[in-house]
Amino acid sequence: MKPHAYIGLMSGTSMDGIDAVLVSFSEGRAKVHATHTVGYPDPVRHQLTKLSQNQGTPDELGAMDHQVGELFSQAALGVINSAAAREVDIVAIGSHGQTVRHQPRDKHAFSMQLGDPNLIAENTGITTVADFRRRDMAAGGEGAPLVPAFHQAMFGCPSKNLCIVNIGGIANISCLLSTPEEKIYGFDTGPGNALMDAWCQDQTGKSYDENGNWANEGRVHQGLLGDMLSDAYFALPAPKSTGKEKFNLGWIKTFIKRHPDATGSDIQRTLLELTVISIAKQLPQSNDLKVYICGGGSRNRLLMQELRRVCSPFAVSSTTEIGLDPQWVEAAAFAWLAQRTLNKQPGNLPAVTGARGKRILGAVYWP
Ligand SMILES: Nc1ncnc2c1ncn2[C@@H]1O[C@H](COP(=O)(O)OP(=O)(O)O)[C@@H](O)[C@H]1O
Ligand SMILES: [Mg+2]
Repeated sequence: MKPHAYIGLMSGTSMDGIDAVLVSFSEGRAKVHATHTVGYPDPVRHQLTKLSQNQGTPDELGAMDHQVGELFSQAALGVINSAAAREVDIVAIGSHGQTVRHQPRDKHAFSMQLGDPNLIAENTGITTVADFRRRDMAAGGEGAPLVPAFHQAMFGCPSKNLCIVNIGGIANISCLLSTPEEKIYGFDTGPGNALMDAWCQDQTGKSYDENGNWANEGRVHQGLLGDMLSDAYFALPAPKSTGKEKFNLGWIKTFIKRHPDATGSDIQRTLLELTVISIAKQLPQSNDLKVYICGGGSRNRLLMQELRRVCSPFAVSSTTEIGLDPQWVEAAAFAWLAQRTLNKQPGNLPAVTGARGKRILGAVYWP
């Protein structure tokens, strides 16, 4: 009998493109069979950015839902058509979609992901699970982060204190501590790559600062760093989640006005330090803590070097060391969440999202 496998589709706040992974799960471990990425064409990225800034008409929103649904289908077909796919039975697709708005603390809280799952089911002929966040929100939760349950299932070890830090556009942390009385918890620490990307795009036209090379030309501006770190979000207790609605170019501009002596590369370097320090400050102070990084930030050499320096004596490495390539962890989480949904098992952790209880997440679109 072929092993059962699931497809995870993810595109995060960086809006760099869609990650697709074909993965099977056994005894709490994930095995990656195939991967595929589909980058967003520039016009799509621009339109998504506009929508995420609360600009655009209902027509534009609807059309983008369709267009992103087609691109998510392409990403899924990329792994479905791989040679490795013939060795497994594909049970379902878990599609996160593309978040354009996430407003968990509004009076009428909502989270909006584009990428019509009806199209994905239709184009692939595979059962598709999507809309994972809103049931948790309906139960009073933040709807985010949802990946800690997966991190616990894959990486949790009763005798170890470990943290998984996903550095996408926003950075989120899962704390998997061995002390029995401490429950697993997780939250968004704040900016991951989002601010670095926004400043780099604005100043150089490049969508990100490869390996932190431009940042490396500047110096940390301590006054600016201190000012930015005084933002109330960093001191908020968990559960908490955030997005690019908050941490964006406008946010940077309000702070740099007060520090006209900071050069472009100083600002880039300071934003890198902000990501590092805001993560380090929010790590649990546990003995022998091991920190594993995933997401695109793990590919930024200067960021990783600074994380290692600032988090010392805690050891910092990538999730490769615990069996999963950092690029595929998030997409694999949505494959796992689809499996949970179809098995009628909850996917949220109330201690993480603040929901009233565990809930079976998502909606199912039959083939
Ligand atoms: N070589 C690199 N150097 C610096 N940053 C990188 C590199 N590779 C990826 N990144 C960063 O990772 C981001 C994408 O990370 P990803 O985990 O896909 O985020 P998201 O989940 O928000 O889509 C890019 O926008 C970029 O900031
Ligand atoms: Mg991405």
